[in-house]
Amino acid sequence: MKVMCIFGTRPEAIKMAPVIKELKKHEDIETVVCVTGQHRQMLDQVLEVFKIKPDYDLDIFKPGQSLTDITVNSISGIEKILEEERPDILLIQGDTTTVFSGALAAFYQKIKIGHIEAGLRSGNLFSPYPEEANRKLVGVLADYHFCPTDANRQNLLEEGYPDEKIYITGNTVIDALKYTVDEDFDFQDEVLNNLDYENEKIILLTSHRRENLGEPMRNIFSAVRDELKDRKDIKVVFPIHLNPKVREIAHEILDEMDNIVFVEPLDYLPFTNLMNKSYLIMTDSGGIQEEGPSLGKPILVLRNETERMEGIEANTARLVGTDYDNIRKNLKDLLDNEESYREMAHANNPYGDGNTSKRIVEIIKNI
Ligand code: UD1
Ligand code: UDP
Repeated sequence: MKVMCIFGTRPEAIKMAPVIKELKKHEDIETVVCVTGQHRQMLDQVLEVFKIKPDYDLDIFKPGQSLTDITVNSISGIEKILEEERPDILLIQGDTTTVFSGALAAFYQKIKIGHIEAGLRSGNLFSPYPEEANRKLVGVLADYHFCPTDANRQNLLEEGYPDEKIYITGNTVIDALKYTVDEDFDFQDEVLNNLDYENEKIILLTSHRRENLGEPMRNIFSAVRDELKDRKDIKVVFPIHLNPKVREIAHEILDEMDNIVFVEPLDYLPFTNLMNKSYLIMTDSGGIQEEGPSLGKPILVLRNETERMEGIEANTARLVGTDYDNIRKNLKDLLDNEESYREMAHANNPYGDGNTSKRIVEIIKNI
C-alpha cells in the first residue's frame, strides 16, 4: 500500500509528523512525504525537530504570497507528483490552502483522500478565514474523515456525510505534545531562560489570523498594552509570526511596552515548554487552543468564533473576541481574581490520548 502525506505549514507539519512516524513503522506501507513549502522557515523548523526528510518539496513559498498564488502553485506541483506516484491514499491534515489544494489535485485524479482533523466548524465561513471554507471544501472531496471528537463527527453527520466514512480518532496534536513537555526544560535562548517563571506572571501571546489583520489585531495589542501598563511582575512573551503584516502592527503598538519580550517563532520543543511555564495564554491560533487546555493553562481566545468549542465548554478557554474592552476586562479578571484563574487552570484534554496516529494508520490498513 502506498500512502502519501502532503502538508505545507507549521501546524500541519506538527500534526502530520506523528502520523508519518507511525506509517514508517509499517513495512507493508510505502510512505511518500511531499511538502508544498507554503511556509518556509516555520515549516523547516518542524521538519528538523521531527527529523522528517520530504521526498518532494515544491518550494512554492514567496514573500507576500496571495491565497491564489499558494493554491495555483500547489495544485500544479502536486498534480505532477500524484501522476508519478499514484498513491492508494493521500493524507492531508487540517484547513490550510495547502490542504485544500492537495484535496483538489487528488480528486482530479480520482485518488482517495483521508482528511485528518475533519469536521471542525465555526459556523461562519469568514472566521477563521479562509480555513472554515477550506474545511468544508475538503470535506466534500474526502473519502475518509478522521475526526478528533464526537462533536466534529456530529457536524459531519448534520451535513449529510455517511457515518461509515467518519472515524473518531482524537487529534494527532496530543501525540506530538506527549513527548515534548519537561518540567526542567532549559531554553537555548537566554532571554527565555532568564525569565522568572516562579515570581512573575508570564503571559504567552500569539496572533496571526488573516481575519484579525488590521483593526481587530490593533484592538488586541492595544488592550494588552493598556491593561499591563502599570502592572509589575508581569511579562508578555510574544513569539511573533513571520507575516510582515503581523509584525508591523505588533511593533507599532507594543514596542513602547517595557514588559514585552518579542522572540522569533520558536521551535516546537521550546514553544510547548514555554506554554507549560506560562501563567496564561492569549492566542488566536487553532493548535494552541488544543494544547493549552491539556497543560492546564487558561486561554483567552482572541477570535469571535472558534471551531474548537471543547475547551470553551470545559472552561479552560474563554472566547473573548477582538473587542478592546472585552479583552481588557477578561485579562484583568484572570490577573486580579484568583478564583476565576483557579477555575480555569485545570487540565482538560478532549482531544485524544496520544494514540491517534496509531488509530489512523490501523484504519487505513483496513480500508
Ligand atoms: C497559514 C494558514 C493558517 C495557519 C497558519 C499557521 C492558510 C490560508 N493559512 O497562515 O490556516 O493558521 O498558516 O501559521 O493556509 N511567512 C514567512 N515564512 C514562513 C511562513 C510565513 O516569511 O515560514 C510570512 C510570509 O510573508 C507569508 C506570510 O507569512 O506571505 C503569510 O503566510 P501564509 O502561509 O500565506 O499564511 P499564514 O498567515 O501563515
Ligand atoms: N508553535 C510553535 N512555535 C511558535 C508558535 C506556535 O512551534 O512560535 C506551534 C504550536 O505549539 C502549535 C502550532 O505551532 O502546535 C500552531 O501553529 P499556528 O498558531 O501557527 O497555526 P494554527 O494552529 O492557528 O493553524
